[in-house]
Amino acid sequence: MIRHNAPADNAELRQALYGSEVFLLAANAASRALGDTVRTLLHKHFGPDYRSLEHSADGDAFFGRMGLLRRELYLQPEPQRLIAELVSALGFDPARSACDPLRLRAILHEGERNPRAKAVYYPHRDTWYSHSQSLITCWIPLDDLPPEETFVFFPEQFTQVVPNNSEIFDYQRWVERDWNLKIGWQHKDDGLTAQYPELTGPLPEGAPRVGFSCSRDQILLFAGHHLHQTLPQSRGRNRFSLDFRLVQLDDHEAGRGAPNVDNRSTGSALPHYINCASALRA
Ligand SMILES: [Fe+2]
Repeated sequence: MIRHNAPADNAELRQALYGSEVFLLAANAASRALGDTVRTLLHKHFGPDYRSLEHSADGDAFFGRMGLLRRELYLQPEPQRLIAELVSALGFDPARSACDPLRLRAILHEGERNPRAKAVYYPHRDTWYSHSQSLITCWIPLDDLPPEETFVFFPEQFTQVVPNNSEIFDYQRWVERDWNLKIGWQHKDDGLTAQYPELTGPLPEGAPRVGFSCSRDQILLFAGHHLHQTLPQSRGRNRFSLDFRLVQLDDHEAGRGAPNVDNRSTGSALPHYINCASALRA
């Protein structure tokens, strides 16, 4: 299911993604530049050993520093330009591609024990967050990672309904409540009170899971419709990664994308995406 070479033709790549294939591609100049930009910020806030548990020993202090770092990242124009370069390098037409802002994720050692972080570990489809069925998710690790420190896909659920509460998510209501939620420097207790779409029942017994290892700055592309789950980890270090969402506008407008089997979220995140051609000009 996980391929390492993308078809040269971009339409073919998109079709394969909408058909459930996942691509783990070699790092390119743009993904390395994105990785370097964010590692520089991590060094600034946490020092060169930014994965060390000493930084997250005080959860509240760590959360506060990550909030500052995310804000600094969000206010830089360079990451959005690099995303547009990355997308162009993959053969997408920048004028017909739109991306949401870069997000930095931290998965902490034994983070699943923190009730505030529970939503991080929910099996979910990204499309349950009011995204297009044409959604392509791009994920970039900031370090070399073994399979225990990444996440898993549930490939059989690509075409199967799973019990979920995606109807609770309405994009417009969510951003109106607090724009900061969108960027990720939310209040530390939001994880306790905010409701996020999740799997609400068991998966079929023995449903296959597909995981992966990766090298830093590699580019993982998958349909945002894929059911996936971040793995809890307890290997003595924290894990940092980047991701952003991408929609090819012709596909969205023509209804080309992964099949919608169970997404009942409402509203649309697309109006807040940034056109890649304008990001390149900025
Ligand atoms: Fe996700």
